[in-house]
Amino acid sequence: MSNPVYLALDLPRLDAAIALATKVRGHIGGVKLGLEFFCAHGHHGVHEVAKLGLPIFLDLKLHDIPNTVAAAMQAIHVLEPAIVTVHAAGGRAMMEDAKAAAGERCKVVAVTVLTSLDDDDLTSVGVPGGAHEQALRLADLAQEAGLDGIVCSGHEVGAIHKRWKHGYFVVPGLRPDMGNSADQKRIVTPRAARNDGASVLVIGRPISRAEDPVAAARAIEATL
Ligand code: C5P
Repeated sequence: MSNPVYLALDLPRLDAAIALATKVRGHIGGVKLGLEFFCAHGHHGVHEVAKLGLPIFLDLKLHDIPNTVAAAMQAIHVLEPAIVTVHAAGGRAMMEDAKAAAGERCKVVAVTVLTSLDDDDLTSVGVPGGAHEQALRLADLAQEAGLDGIVCSGHEVGAIHKRWKHGYFVVPGLRPDMGNSADQKRIVTPRAARNDGASVLVIGRPISRAEDPVAAARAIEATL
């Protein structure tokens, strides 16, 4: 089975990002490039990272009217991403059009509820039921829209997997060493996320900020 770890390249400098990915490439399955990276380095940056030969996850979290999102998907088609994110809150038609524009080789996955929003934040934007209920509702909508899967936390992936047997689940917020976190309730280990049905494990700082990123990536790989 291929390595499910996608390294989040959240580094401001392109050369540093490429140097890091080059070092650990043998111990990861792909790289995740976020909005920050794409706004700073654009298509050029993605092409440079793609030279490493690893699958690219473009985490752009697209959210606009269906026509605009479909056009954006077509514009990034040339980059041949393996995975692209959209916001499930953009609605069913937007997700359907995004998927139709993505082409067969690109998985389109929907962000349900950002982990930066708590229940009070959701209430303030008119969503009264809480984050968990909203995440499940949007996961169901993404499934109905024909998307490949969703992005969710390690705390939700088990419950969502039960409702969507063949979904493709991208899980961030992972910490290989639970003992190193002051906030143990908010994290899960890569192994636990995988056991609960995660297809892709997004890992950033536990590798990128490690004293020895290769050793850190190798140690994570050994637990999977
Ligand atoms: O925390 P870490 O550096 O491993 O995060 C890796 C990636 O996952 C980052 O790009 C971050 O934006 C994303 N992330 C997320 N939700 C979380 C934690 C991290 O989307 N709860």
